[in-house]
Amino acid sequence: GRGNYRHFMEKELHEHPAVIGDTLHRMVDPGTRAVALPKLPFDLAAIPRLTVSACGSAFYAGLVGRWWFETLARLPADADVASEFRYRAPPLTEGGLGLLVSQSGETADTLAALRYLRAERQHVLSVVNVPESSMARESDAVLETVAGPEIGVASTKAFTAQLAVLACLAIATARARGAIDAAREAALTASLLEIPARAAAVLEQDAEIQRVAAILAEARDVLYLGRGNCFPIALEGALKLKEISYIHAEGYAAGEMKHGPIALIDPAVPVIAITPSGPLFDKTASNLQEAAARGGRIIVFSDAAGAARLRGIAAETIVLPDVDPFAAPLLYAIPVQLLAYHVAVRKGTDVDQPRNLAKSVTVE
Ligand code: F6R
Repeated sequence: GRGNYRHFMEKELHEHPAVIGDTLHRMVDPGTRAVALPKLPFDLAAIPRLTVSACGSAFYAGLVGRWWFETLARLPADADVASEFRYRAPPLTEGGLGLLVSQSGETADTLAALRYLRAERQHVLSVVNVPESSMARESDAVLETVAGPEIGVASTKAFTAQLAVLACLAIATARARGAIDAAREAALTASLLEIPARAAAVLEQDAEIQRVAAILAEARDVLYLGRGNCFPIALEGALKLKEISYIHAEGYAAGEMKHGPIALIDPAVPVIAITPSGPLFDKTASNLQEAAARGGRIIVFSDAAGAARLRGIAAETIVLPDVDPFAAPLLYAIPVQLLAYHVAVRKGTDVDQPRNLAKSVTVE
């Protein structure tokens, strides 16, 4: 049941800290802080290329994964939505790694992408939440997210569990390829292991997030901006808002704004910036200046240092705990999902069963 929560989605949002912790504890040795994955039937050091395929939120987790594999492991990587990937039918060199990400393990297009990857002689690894699923059965190896059953149609805790698995896999791949040493690996896993406590702190910021939800509930369109490994979190925020509150939203790479969407900016279109401190912060800050100069109503999700820098232009600021930029997507996913939840509650939509949507999409 949903216990004392109003909706399954609210209950599942509050499970983020435990789910991230459980998923990490299966993959990180608490003593050495090294990633210890189950034995894989292929050599991570020998893989020439990674191909990620998934749908919806699981695809956004895959996009963060691609960023981690490229930046940390220096492994060439591609990610595409399964419904495009399978028909694009790209030629692949034998011996690459095909990676599928799926909560249900049954999504028709992702399953078809899996079969395509197998036909192209890729090693097939799936990250799934249902170990008895079709994808798990048809894969060479499975890394399980330990999210427990997810009842709300909109994915929440499965998404951060996917991120936790992909982060560990990217670290293990980086180590196998000699791209990081043991000290860096321990620092990276330490940054992941800090997330459950920080996530619990973010869930305590519910009242602040409700204040932002009151603004969004009046909007017809919302723009979400991010960069680097938080660009997919902007996409996730926009998708979640669309699917449960029925408000039109777009996730955009902050640097693309001046190539078109800036034309949309006016005081009626809230601009949500997902912008933790880190190497890309200044770039996003200048994009936000441009939006503010055109009358945009800027809502900032950042840490104390980032929030202080943007206070002059922000209409609202949500100050999140400090986090290593590597692990930021795990933390920043939570307030954007919580925000969509509160907007939907205010609008009185059916949060757990949004119109026109099914939990598992087993038709193309
Ligand atoms: C969004 C959402 C969907 C799923 C997508 C893939 O909140 O839940 O976009 O992420 O349908 O489903 P799975 O992960 O089961 O393959």
